[in-house]
Amino acid sequence: MKKIIVKLNDRSYPIFIGKNILSNKELIKKINCNNFAIVTNKKIKNLHFSKIKNTSLKKNVILLNDGEKYKNQDSISKIYNFLLKNKFSRDGCIVAFGGGVIGDMSGFAAATYQRGINFIQIPTTLLAMVDSSVGGKTGINHALGKNMIGSFHQPSAVIIDTEVLKTLSDRQFNAGMAEVIKYGIIEDKTFFKWLSANTEKIKSKDTDAMIKIIKKSCEIKAKIVAMDEKEKNIRALLNLGHTFGHAIENNLGYGKWLHGEAIACGFLIASTVAIQNKTMKVEEYESIKKILEAFNLPTKLPKGVRLKKLYETMSLDKKVKDSKMVYIIPRGIGSAYITNKIKKGLVINALNKHV
Ligand code: GLY
Repeated sequence: MKKIIVKLNDRSYPIFIGKNILSNKELIKKINCNNFAIVTNKKIKNLHFSKIKNTSLKKNVILLNDGEKYKNQDSISKIYNFLLKNKFSRDGCIVAFGGGVIGDMSGFAAATYQRGINFIQIPTTLLAMVDSSVGGKTGINHALGKNMIGSFHQPSAVIIDTEVLKTLSDRQFNAGMAEVIKYGIIEDKTFFKWLSANTEKIKSKDTDAMIKIIKKSCEIKAKIVAMDEKEKNIRALLNLGHTFGHAIENNLGYGKWLHGEAIACGFLIASTVAIQNKTMKVEEYESIKKILEAFNLPTKLPKGVRLKKLYETMSLDKKVKDSKMVYIIPRGIGSAYITNKIKKGLVINALNKHV
């Protein structure tokens, strides 16, 4: 089992990564909490509850509907209702057992219930393992924008069992790979090259490959979060492709494209901006496009999306500061920068190249 620490002083926490670690009673015992409420959905319950049956985790179960379109206030109310009816007090603990939607909503409920209780992340999708379960971003969507209502609330632990990936659909798996590839682009060229050279091994969900990509992604994320928990500066690098991606998700209707699909297309568009801005070579763009194709990720905008509307939605993004759009732009592969100096025409041009 691998262990990574997200270093945040008295709120530091471990990320455990390994095969079959969910049934490890000793590991679960280490999590210091008596009263657990598991938030999950029917599908995850049917597929994976047997893995935790001999641990102390399984007691109270809150079932939510599956999918991004249910990431809203109604689902949060279901969690509050359960906790209140079952007299959960401040020493209670929410366990998020599912993908990013379950994790973000459980974390938000934990952040706000009785002004904040503990929560544990047990991510079941690759995307949640490498991104959303780590770093304490929690929240729900609003009709006017994704993740617009939320809070920073760090989990007490993250438990990543690679075995649960075995039942993940190819589409969900590939969407998670978008975030993994993102880490290579913003931070680690050698990792990007390794990913490009090992696409078949990764697609076969080889355990060693899974542990390597999850560990590397969590290490990069933990390092960045430790430096800038509340996204005052460099944490924004983790949002490569997200301004474009969130606007795609919002314009299509939440859930049509998976988050990973939308940000993959988003960081390819950001790479086109980078070529126009002379911070990326065309060959680098091509190698990003190639790896996206290997994982069946979109390299073109969805059909029927209107660019004017898309741009308008982008201007509502949380990253807009002093009315200036903030973009994350790759500086080749292995590094990226944050800028508010990209002209609208350049962005529209890059969008047009992906129609
Ligand atoms: N998903 C980006 C972040 O956690 O900051």
